[in-house]
Amino acid sequence: MAIERVAVLGGGQMGSGIAEAIATAGIEVTLIKATPGPADQARAGIAKNLDRQVDKGKIAREHAEQVIGRITFTDRLEAAAGADLLIESVIEDIEVKRRYFAEAAKFLGPQAIVASNTSTLRIGDMAPASGRPERFLGLHFFNPAQIMKLVEVVPSASTDAEVTAEAVSFVERIGKTPVLVKDSTGFIVNRLLTPYMVDAIRCLEAGLADVAGIDTAMHLGANHPMGPLALADYIGLDIVQAMARNLLESFGQDYMGPTPLLDRMVAAGMLGRKSGRGFYDYSGRPPRPNPDLPL
Ligand SMILES: NC(=O)c1ccc[n+]([C@@H]2O[C@H](COP(=O)([O-])OP(=O)(O)OC[C@H]3O[C@@H](n4cnc5c(N)ncnc54)[C@H](O)[C@@H]3O)[C@@H](O)[C@H]2O)c1
Repeated sequence: MAIERVAVLGGGQMGSGIAEAIATAGIEVTLIKATPGPADQARAGIAKNLDRQVDKGKIAREHAEQVIGRITFTDRLEAAAGADLLIESVIEDIEVKRRYFAEAAKFLGPQAIVASNTSTLRIGDMAPASGRPERFLGLHFFNPAQIMKLVEVVPSASTDAEVTAEAVSFVERIGKTPVLVKDSTGFIVNRLLTPYMVDAIRCLEAGLADVAGIDTAMHLGANHPMGPLALADYIGLDIVQAMARNLLESFGQDYMGPTPLLDRMVAAGMLGRKSGRGFYDYSGRPPRPNPDLPL
């Protein structure tokens, strides 16, 4: 079965980026906003990304219009009917995800493949809720999904080998590089990256250096494109907190779990770039270290 029609569930930063990546590869995609209301923000975000590429001369205006023209924006889950592949990208909460999988099952055809873009949750823990564990797997994209090349492909113990093979060829078709990973909390990248970001927050709490110092050290000293605190802001601190909680619960290692400062920042609505403030304040350019950190 060739995957010709794709539905993406969740119109946040990842859902929008995934829809844009798929449409850029010439495939029709329906972006279903999970919470009710118009999908104006998702549409505006994708249009802005494409405009930026036109301004830089990377793509023609006509091409940008074709890409956005391949995306249908809706807040109705019924629009998933007829999709060969549904990619879920709602918040990192297993109960919320399970509810959406059960609801989507009412509209999807029996052959449809269902994938989760979860950052850390075990695929086997969500598969039964989809009602089709043999056609369910993880497709873990990276942020920004329209640019980042890696997709971790995560079959559970119940996933049919043929479904995994179809997912791998789909990932290649949209110009990404698939890496097959065993079903385990955090897969490869977040199992390694989350404790690193959380440890950087611990360094900040311990007064080892300030925000700019920690980030500059890892940027210049390890040649990382951005420091760990800027990266946490980029991912979203609520997502980092959820990933750290999931890793702690799975592996029982304290160093993997959230720190008090991370918890306080999320509780205060300082979620990073998407809320305008995290370790940095994004109201001006360039962003400045946030002077109001709840240290
Ligand atoms: N941010 C990253 O770098 C990244 C990378 C890879 C995967 N992911 C995963 O992708 C998924 C989405 O993350 P995101 O970064 O796009 O988050 P986001 O906050 O930008 O978007 C989350 C979406 O979930 C929706 N939603 C549905 N039910 C909700 C509820 N009950 N409460 C609140 N929001 C609800 C929101 O409307 C929103 O559109 C998560 O599973 C996350 O772990 C994130």
